[in-house]
Amino acid sequence: MKKDFLLLSHYSREEILSLLALASELKAQKREGKPHRLLEGKTLGMIFEKSSTRTRVSFEVGMYDLGGSALFLSGADLQLGRGEPIEDTARVLSRYLDGIMIRTFAQEKVERLAQYATIPVINGLTDFAHPCQVVADLLTIQEHKGGLEGKTLCYVGDGNNMANSLIVGGIKVGMKVRTACPAAYRPDPGIMAWAQAAGDYLCTEDVLEAAAGADVLYTDVWASMGQEAEAEARMRIFAGYQINSAVMRAAAPDAMVLHCLPAHRGEEITAEVLEAHEGEIFDEAENRLHAQKAIMVHLMRF
Ligand code: CP
Ligand code: NVA
Repeated sequence: MKKDFLLLSHYSREEILSLLALASELKAQKREGKPHRLLEGKTLGMIFEKSSTRTRVSFEVGMYDLGGSALFLSGADLQLGRGEPIEDTARVLSRYLDGIMIRTFAQEKVERLAQYATIPVINGLTDFAHPCQVVADLLTIQEHKGGLEGKTLCYVGDGNNMANSLIVGGIKVGMKVRTACPAAYRPDPGIMAWAQAAGDYLCTEDVLEAAAGADVLYTDVWASMGQEAEAEARMRIFAGYQINSAVMRAAAPDAMVLHCLPAHRGEEITAEVLEAHEGEIFDEAENRLHAQKAIMVHLMRF
């Protein structure tokens, strides 16, 4: 049966750890200039209904490194943008391609694409989840902290797609996860309930409480793609949900800082903190490439 990568909740702890191990191996091979053309002749279609820098470029370069090729398919230019059903798009693309990556709004659309496609489907971000980003994030934490289990991850800001996927990924690999979000902007209730039952998870409105002793501080934009009309109101609601020097002082002395990017300096993170931790944040961006190569190899190798 074909495999998909739609949500981290579909993956076991062992599967996530083995993706991380494969990503590290592929990263070392790339660094050493060793060819790793594991997807020779395969083609990935990349449907984008939202903007992207990292996801688009890292998937495209990743496929090239693996000996395959990638096609950028803008949602606006596809017949999908003129109302062709996702179910038909899925069956047509399955006749041409070996895998599909999609970035869109509703998680349900990705699920339907995967249901009707006969080839692997990868979630490249929805309003609900951003699982590829979290594989790269865990790889970066592992590299900088020497491990994941027992480390404390604190997410500050909007309980959005990033928060949802970080909670699932962090808890699955045995991290302690804290989220600091305004009461009306908490992560998905189902994910929070699962996390509380499955591991060590705390949700609070108090940023300093969440950050206390944290090994990793993480934040994301206050207004995600598709929420542009709410941006001004969100500036007021999220004021205070910022990673700044006071939050850094509450965290562990050697705490690292991650941001999925793009960042809005002076909003969810100060320029000072971002620049002081740019090594970690841009390693994280680089790791998108290695993490996604591992995901594609896992799904598309045979
Ligand atoms: N972090 C991330 O997914 O970046 P892009 O929106 O640039 O792809
Ligand atoms: N939460 C952000 C993440 C961007 C990578 C968004 O959905 O726009």
